[in-house]
Amino acid sequence: MNRANPTPYDHILYPGHSYRQTHPDRLATLATLLGMQPAPVDRCRVLELGCGSGANLIPMAWGLPGTECVGIDLAARPVAEGQTTIQELGLGNIQLHQLDLLDFPDTMGTFDYIIAHGLYSWVPPAVRNKLMAVCQKHLAAHGVAFISYNTYPGCHIRDMLREMMLYHVHNAPDSITKIHQAQALLKFLADSQTEPDEYGRLLHKELERVMHYSAAHLFHDDLAEINQPLYFHQFMEHASSHGLQFLSEAEYFMVQTDQFPEHTVKVLNGLEGNILGQQQYLDFLRCRRFRQTLLCHADLAIHFQVRPEQMADFYFSAPTTAVSEASDISSPEEMEFHGDQGSRLKTTNPLAKAALQYLGSMWPQSVHFKEILTEALNSLGRARENEDEIELGAILQSGFGTGLVDVHLSPPRLVLEPGEYPMVSPVARMQAAMGDLFTTLRHRTVRLDDTLACQLVQMLDGTRTVASLTTQLRQRARDAESPGDGTGQGRTISAGQDGEREVKTLLRSLARLGLLVQ
Ligand SMILES: C[S@@+](CC[C@H](N)C(=O)[O-])C[C@H]1O[C@@H](n2cnc3c(N)ncnc32)[C@H](O)[C@@H]1O
Repeated sequence: MNRANPTPYDHILYPGHSYRQTHPDRLATLATLLGMQPAPVDRCRVLELGCGSGANLIPMAWGLPGTECVGIDLAARPVAEGQTTIQELGLGNIQLHQLDLLDFPDTMGTFDYIIAHGLYSWVPPAVRNKLMAVCQKHLAAHGVAFISYNTYPGCHIRDMLREMMLYHVHNAPDSITKIHQAQALLKFLADSQTEPDEYGRLLHKELERVMHYSAAHLFHDDLAEINQPLYFHQFMEHASSHGLQFLSEAEYFMVQTDQFPEHTVKVLNGLEGNILGQQQYLDFLRCRRFRQTLLCHADLAIHFQVRPEQMADFYFSAPTTAVSEASDISSPEEMEFHGDQGSRLKTTNPLAKAALQYLGSMWPQSVHFKEILTEALNSLGRARENEDEIELGAILQSGFGTGLVDVHLSPPRLVLEPGEYPMVSPVARMQAAMGDLFTTLRHRTVRLDDTLACQLVQMLDGTRTVASLTTQLRQRARDAESPGDGTGQGRTISAGQDGEREVKTLLRSLARLGLLVQ
């Protein structure tokens, strides 16, 4: 039965957003690389369990109009909010239902991609079981399920703090008081550690983590009634009891063993053929707290060894910047590239330098393997040689393995150069009216600190030129200055020619974030 009673998620809304690692493009790309034949990204069925207000699923549905997206969540209020958003956006390919996962009906059919972000560890055992059962029953033969969960050993540290916070807040009369009391306890504990010992360092790190994320996250995560981490091997035992097997982590670089010293890599590689054991020891080595595991049906043959020659069929993207310039990239001089999430790569290989430089210049666009090869050889000023394809494949594969390069099956509908009538997605325009977090066409969440940029996003519906955008931003600034208007905050547009230049610069930075649509 659906619970009519409000849940904690009705009371305090969970600040959900888009998670790029859940996007069908990511799931299909990994599945293809690992030997499966997943459904085409632009014509698939996607199910999100515990979808909240659809902050992840709605931009996905907009970006992939040929897909059919279904989301379910127990909490009525976020689902109702999501349904209103869908109506306002006029999306016909997505439905959100207020439904207890325990009551998931058999009539829902099969799905090519099933997403459960932030659900497994936060629900009782019966719901966890049902989640696996739904994946077993409703996942297409070559479908991929994404399930995130908290893991040990890393969460032992978190559990210690969580238990102290729960003890401290157990008499708090309401949720807001609970949040404030929990924050205050952590601060008290951290500030009281005058000796720079292990415990003090740990408390300061936890305090930083808790203060860094929102009060709503603290409430639904550390202070949640249920927050059950488990070891990877326990999660996999549960999955395999439902006929599911390990495919990968959604962040492919997290599966790799080669980020450790040589002697460690040797031991880990000795576990080849025992992928689950290898992954479990990786968690011990990293003291891992969180996993985003991809599962598929157990009867599929998975080829865990990705080969360089497979790369030729894919698109690539990378927000790379060269931190050390080489005077001549053809020379064996070393260059270092930095990317997302602390990823970095040093190389003396001219083809690698040229390819990474080209990808960085094209970011956030995805570029096909063939184009990268052509452009890299152009910048090296040489003709193609026999080994170039395999060499570039190995370079891109290793970039993917370190998290520097992303691999895709299809490019998103974004543009690098603002056209005459620049446009963002209607999802982004709606987000501009609500705050400063935006979903890019790469399905990333970005924050725009600049109020002028947020105002501009709201106007980018493809009907205005730079000149008219500038005029309207000026008008807004004048209106905001008028007495009685409380909106006059933040940066305003410059006068004269400078205004148009400013708008053009802002448009280019929005394009660079992946917000401008074709
Ligand atoms: C931690 S939130 C995660 C929300 C979203 N997936 C995200 O990661 O941003 C967990 C969500 O699961 C939903 N949920 C909890 N129990 C559920 C159940 N039995 N059936 C369906 N949804 C459930 C909650 O209402 C909440 O929206």
